[in-house]
Amino acid sequence: MDLDKAALSRRVQELLSDIPRERQQLLPALWRVFEEYWHLSPEMIDAIAQTLDIPYADVYGVASFYALFANPDNKKPIYICTDVMCALYGSEDLLKAGEDLANDAGVRVKEAPCLGHCDGAPALFDGRQTIRHASPKVLAQIIRGETDA
Ligand code: FES
Repeated sequence: MDLDKAALSRRVQELLSDIPRERQQLLPALWRVFEEYWHLSPEMIDAIAQTLDIPYADVYGVASFYALFANPDNKKPIYICTDVMCALYGSEDLLKAGEDLANDAGVRVKEAPCLGHCDGAPALFDGRQTIRHASPKVLAQIIRGETDA
């Protein structure tokens, strides 16, 4: 996304306007900006650092630690857990079906480590909520934007 630095800074300030200026709010702040652009550029990280008054290196360190923020093609990601329990319940097939469907849909289906819902395997995260016992039908609805579920 091509935004000049001032416009980007204003937009990040708007996005984070209701988030308390506390260090423990860094992850929600990163996610809020990520949801807007589907990636985190150095300029965005700088704007977050300025807005929250946290050193750039600290914001970068957190942003680069979480694999969920690695999204080089800027397409809306849908994360499918492929960790052990979800793999036992068919997440690899779900991932393959999702990759085929998402090809032309402007979204990206990605593997994810454990989402913390092992008792609801296979699990996926659509960017807003975790879907437990995910099925190819529900995944297809999410990819086509037919449901928030
Ligand atoms: S193994 Fe998939 S949510 Fe834990």
